[in-house]
Amino acid sequence: MCGIVGYVGKNNCVRVLIDGLEKLEYRGYDSAGIAYFNDDKINILKESGKLENLKKGLDLSVDSNIGIGHTRWATHGKAKKENSHPHQVGKFTIVHNGIIENYVDIKKDLEKKGYVFNSDTDTEVLCALLDYLYKSDKNVLNVIIKASKIVKGSYAVGILFNDEKDKIYVMKNKSPLIIGVGKDENFIASDVPAILDKTDNYISLEDGDYGVIAKDEIKIYNNKKLRNYDVEKFEFGADLIDKKGYSHYMLKEIHEQPDVFKKTVKDYVNNDLDGLIKNMPDFTKYNKIRIVACGSATHAALVGKQMLEEYGNVKTDVETASEFRYSKPFLSKDELVIVISQSGETADTLEALKLAKENGNDTLGIINAKGSSIARSADMVLYTKAGKEIAVATTKAYSAQVAMLSLIALNLSYKKDLISSDEIKKILASIRTLPSQMQELLNNKDKYKEIAEKLASHNDIFFIGRKVDYALAQEGSLKLKEISYTHSEAYAAGELKHGTISLIEPGTPVISIVTDDYIAPKTISNMIEVKSRGAEVIYITNKTDDLKDGLYDERLIIPRTHKLFSPLLTIIPLQMIAYEVAKIKGCDIDKPKNLAKSVTVE
Ligand code: G6P
Repeated sequence: MCGIVGYVGKNNCVRVLIDGLEKLEYRGYDSAGIAYFNDDKINILKESGKLENLKKGLDLSVDSNIGIGHTRWATHGKAKKENSHPHQVGKFTIVHNGIIENYVDIKKDLEKKGYVFNSDTDTEVLCALLDYLYKSDKNVLNVIIKASKIVKGSYAVGILFNDEKDKIYVMKNKSPLIIGVGKDENFIASDVPAILDKTDNYISLEDGDYGVIAKDEIKIYNNKKLRNYDVEKFEFGADLIDKKGYSHYMLKEIHEQPDVFKKTVKDYVNNDLDGLIKNMPDFTKYNKIRIVACGSATHAALVGKQMLEEYGNVKTDVETASEFRYSKPFLSKDELVIVISQSGETADTLEALKLAKENGNDTLGIINAKGSSIARSADMVLYTKAGKEIAVATTKAYSAQVAMLSLIALNLSYKKDLISSDEIKKILASIRTLPSQMQELLNNKDKYKEIAEKLASHNDIFFIGRKVDYALAQEGSLKLKEISYTHSEAYAAGELKHGTISLIEPGTPVISIVTDDYIAPKTISNMIEVKSRGAEVIYITNKTDDLKDGLYDERLIIPRTHKLFSPLLTIIPLQMIAYEVAKIKGCDIDKPKNLAKSVTVE
């Protein structure tokens, strides 16, 4: 969601900015722009739509060594050129990620003072505020301090100032911003991959930080004091921005899931009965668990709930962060709050975490991005081992979250002495064979294509399941919606006849997920009900026993494994079917319209 990049150094900045914005495309955006110094003045170029539109009008050979760039995901005002960043008012030119919540009041004040606005954005208001404050204090750092006391909300901002042609100013609160450290060149960016082919050394900015970078100097302040900083090294290589021969990042990331599982196991599972789970706190003292997250992370939590309750014997509730943060939390003192986030930057999840902390609860983050805001704020952190995810629609990070929750459930079960050593042996055997079973499913490409061809022409598709299969149905349905723009609904199979079954007509596709033996007969009955009404049933199951002919139209067999890890297999066909449908429909699979990878606004 909104990408920022900036460069000051010895090289042509236009190329660096465009390269950086291309790498940030995964965050999701609907317009783009850059600003750079040339012949002592600032040139601004911006366009709505894809980066290609901006690139058409660019002179890549222009002689400029300092500039800022932005990909905008519209929040205030349509995705049109006037609303795109950079915005310029007086001597200030800025790019911004976040939301200035009190921009309406600030705008009214500034209008009274004679400012006229050319866009609908909160960013232009911030820019005008900087210009206004500069009139009475001719020091940009002081202006930034004063502005940060006036504005409310979230912001990561890159600033060019007309009279200082060798500097980029920054200010940050709640939206991510890093400084890339090079030799005789420095960068700013929303995320390290934007600059990874130039440097892997970076500084994470904290909330309240502001500062200035030149090609050979970085100064970061907080609370009016210059602060020390550590230069970190990004742990993933530049090759993460490589599709490795796959046609899309999403496909590559789906195929990385067996490796992700192996890494998780290596870091968290002891291969013997002694200890079983390592590198994990003891959670047995909590009588309840509340999991709060957004999007697919919520769906991972719903799978986790089943595992934590069945194996960990602990009552677990799941809440959507955007709802939870504005509700009475009703958290009891013996409740552990788990927040799950791939990016570690999702605004609603971060605020939910703060609420839990304010309430005095212990908090655990299940996070993929090291050092992210949520990882830094949670009392305890368990890192998922998915590696960087580029495709907007999450796949490997989701399954890493599911794996982590299953391991927490297993840990609880083990520590509470709820499983026999025989069962532990079975679990360890399942863990060993799971990656090859995942691979077996990934090899089934033709089958997914065949099913996708049947689905691609339909406007409405239903997913049904019960318990863990319902949680998986929700993620399968979301994947299909996100990347193929096909309307689909996930239903608890038993709920169908309370309304939705009226939508089933001859030929309506229903994807029925049946992997939980305990509840399978019930879901199969619901499947028969929709089949009787003419639905085209795609039956995804780990049951190989024959059902009567004609009860389904397609059957996809999931290999059997221990129930704790079965969701990691079931999800693969669901991801692959969504991918193949999107491919047939010619969608922009890695960068679906209107979506963002990291949702840093609420
Ligand atoms: C966005 C992404 C989803 C993700 C959700 C939560 O909507 O497109 O894939 O599940 O945010 O993100 P998080 O980084 O907190 O896991």
